[in-house]
Amino acid sequence: MAISPARSAAFDILLRVELRNAYASELLHSGRWEQLSTADRGLATELVMGVLRWRSRLDEAIGAASARPIGKLDSEVLNALRLGTYQLQYLNRIPAHAAINDSVELVKRAQKRSAAPFANAVLRKIAAAGFEPHPESIAWTAPSLAREFAHPQWLVERWITAFGRERAWAICRQDQQIPHTAVRLDSAEIEPELQAEGIELAPGALLASARLVVSGDVTRTRALQEGRVMIQDEASQLVAALVGRGRRILDCCAAPGGKTAALAARNPNAEIVAAELHAHRAELMRKRVRAANVHVIQGDALSLPGSGDFDRVLADVPCSGTGTLARNPEIKWRLRPEDLSDLHSRQVAILRAALQQLAPGGRAVYSTCSVEREENEAVVEEVLHEADGYRLCDAGDELDRLRSTGELVWSDLDSLLSGRFLRTIPGIQPCAGFFAAVFERA
Ligand SMILES: C[S@@+](CC[C@H](N)C(=O)[O-])C[C@H]1O[C@@H](n2cnc3c(N)ncnc32)[C@H](O)[C@@H]1O
Repeated sequence: MAISPARSAAFDILLRVELRNAYASELLHSGRWEQLSTADRGLATELVMGVLRWRSRLDEAIGAASARPIGKLDSEVLNALRLGTYQLQYLNRIPAHAAINDSVELVKRAQKRSAAPFANAVLRKIAAAGFEPHPESIAWTAPSLAREFAHPQWLVERWITAFGRERAWAICRQDQQIPHTAVRLDSAEIEPELQAEGIELAPGALLASARLVVSGDVTRTRALQEGRVMIQDEASQLVAALVGRGRRILDCCAAPGGKTAALAARNPNAEIVAAELHAHRAELMRKRVRAANVHVIQGDALSLPGSGDFDRVLADVPCSGTGTLARNPEIKWRLRPEDLSDLHSRQVAILRAALQQLAPGGRAVYSTCSVEREENEAVVEEVLHEADGYRLCDAGDELDRLRSTGELVWSDLDSLLSGRFLRTIPGIQPCAGFFAAVFERA
């Protein structure tokens, strides 16, 4: 029996995410699934993201309906069951028989034919049990928050300790929502062009150059394909704005290039070097960021050629991404507490190397899309402790400047700050969770 293209794509993507550590949002926008119709891509996205967001709740329902422990199920069978259960429990508009039949067919297609009757029985049991959407209780303990909002308990415990119960609740709740798509416009003329292609836009909450996509598939527009519009969270746009203006700018961890493109738009006469460790990501970036003043190189931020002659440096380091779980929900199931100390060491090394690239009087921005202290304040403290000749600037002064030029439209600047750092928290500000620190070389 034919399986719907959207469910087939969603299943393949879920398996790649689980077995190959791939990122769902990258796969959904990759060439392989580009030929899906707009409607199928929309449904595939909803299915993949929904399954990843609610995975532990789906597994709970599957576990209750299955005689076999879910830990013993093959990945193909488990992911077909998750896909079916998500549709049965969360998508009212999909008839139960369509959700069940396609999941059973997916099990057969994955060469697990003998598990097909089992999958059918489990999904029928889940469908028969009915489902009450989770009441939005104010769950205040780590176990109840973790269960209600489908998060690993260790992460929730950390957030309660770091931010308090109310903010931890807000983060968890936000992570379970479909995040709005924000774009950065290179110039105001692009707005009517996008509108003519059927894209409805609303003003951004933080930045004058940002727009929120209200309806329409912006990924299929000419302006996006030509690199004149970038999909970019507003907090990420704000980090790029913090870098300010310069003549020679280094972006030392640059792909996929959202911030590089923003730097290029702000500094059309600057020479911008964008370094990326991985060759395939550097190549992808060359295609996406077309500004003539950007020179993309494949290289390790720890050992870039030349030193000490950039007046602006951005170190947007590899991080856990816990500020972006609404968009990248697989991260919460993949991350282990011990990963944070590994990331911390890499981040310290990259920040030290980035500071070495600064010319006297130059400024560097260190940033992450993580809300974890180890990757943020702790990195800055460790590097500053031994970095003679560098000072930590107050990010609040930079925000004041951006506000006075009209670039920053958000008025409550204090809410974007934590001490001398820029810090946004998902569910508290209308953007992903980012952190940035600004350094100046004497
Ligand atoms: C957080 S992402 C950068 C996002 C990018 N700045 C943007 O706004 O689109 C970090 C990037 O750094 C790259 N990377 C990791 N380690 C690196 C290193 N040692 N040198 C250069 N790039 C590195 C990763 O492959 C990844 O593409």
